[in-house]
Amino acid sequence: MTMMRRDFLLSGTLAAAAMSTTNGPVLAQVSPPADAGMQQPAYSTAPYEGSKANQKIKIINLIEIEQEAQKVLPVGGYGYISSGSGANFTRGENMAAFTRIFIDPQPMNGTEKVDMSVEILGSKLTMPIIVPPMGSHGLAHVSKEEGTAKAARAVGTLMLTSTQSNLSMEEIAAANPGPKWFQLYYMKDRGIVRELAQRAKAAGYTAIAPTIDNLFGYPREENIRNDFRPPRSLGKGNVPRSIPDFAKADAAMNDRKRDLTWDDLEFLKKESGLPIIVKGVLSPKVAAAALKRGMDAIYISNHGGRAFDGVQATVSILPRIADAVEGRVPIILDGGVRRGTDVFKALALGANVVACGRPVLYGLALGGALGAQSVLEYLRDNLAVVMRLAGTSSVAEISRENLVQEAEA
Ligand code: FNR
Repeated sequence: MTMMRRDFLLSGTLAAAAMSTTNGPVLAQVSPPADAGMQQPAYSTAPYEGSKANQKIKIINLIEIEQEAQKVLPVGGYGYISSGSGANFTRGENMAAFTRIFIDPQPMNGTEKVDMSVEILGSKLTMPIIVPPMGSHGLAHVSKEEGTAKAARAVGTLMLTSTQSNLSMEEIAAANPGPKWFQLYYMKDRGIVRELAQRAKAAGYTAIAPTIDNLFGYPREENIRNDFRPPRSLGKGNVPRSIPDFAKADAAMNDRKRDLTWDDLEFLKKESGLPIIVKGVLSPKVAAAALKRGMDAIYISNHGGRAFDGVQATVSILPRIADAVEGRVPIILDGGVRRGTDVFKALALGANVVACGRPVLYGLALGGALGAQSVLEYLRDNLAVVMRLAGTSSVAEISRENLVQEAEA
């Protein structure tokens, strides 16, 4: 293997690690660093500009807008948003699993009007669809998270602000005076965890969602292929203010606690005084442990197939977790939700609310705040049709009774 070929396969830190080994079969020798592929890469100082579009967009479905977004975004940014980890198996399975679930049709059911409103952890929403935490919206659009927050506001739903947002959590809160939650990547330094939690509370966030599914990043091949690193120029809004030097603050923020425990999450709950949503639950055992430790909501997620490639689709795991939770706390689910039918199936299997990720960023890329709004409206309107066809006039009415086994279908 020539050096050029080797460099192509192993970019960035992986290549550096490979170079430090002897001349043998490099790929076999290298043990990838914990965050190979994305989680804590160095910044890129190359210029980056997201889209500047500002318009409502016509949506036929949320699969096709991915291709449209690809046309307007830089290769690295699009690759970062769209790809999963490893072989993209879990990413694909998230969507495929929905196609194996069937809805029980109810013709002539007389349902004309549907009420999609829900209340979750004290937040009143017009629909059971929210925006999950996603870092760096500036990759999609120059309005960054402000555009997405405005879109969520316009449809009356909430967005989870990511620890890794380009704008600060305070700037994002200002763009959406409605309900909002904050996602937290737990750092080694508990002082920073406390600082971020206090900032979130002061800015009006009413719940905190620590993410537990991405403590060790599985390689994201597309990012390695593109040598993608987050552009420094897009900003990093939530670096701790207690450390004035940006480089040091950034390093402390990226120094995640990989041996996270329930004690850490209890600390977060105590320090913030806010409900804790455990994001990244993928097993009934973990859900049961979360309940035992007083956590306030279960967020079933595999990071959109961006973390541990090889795990099941979220909707496949949902029924077992719902059985373990027995309605004691709300369940949120994301991963591959692209149509009203997907939302309906997840609600029927026990989710209280679902989140739709990548398509919202594609909408942002194609039309700014108005484009992201179009995506949320599409899902809302699509769900309304499904609810009518299934004869369910409110979200509370949707249950497993509305589904049929394949053999019965
Ligand atoms: C994410 N996700 C994520 N999750 C999290 O807890 N913190 C984060 O900062 C991010 N960042 C992030 C960036 C981008 C570009 C994407 C696409 C996703 C995962 C996200 O919250 C959610 O779990 C998935 O996006 C849901 O899957 P779909 O809807 O994209 O298939």
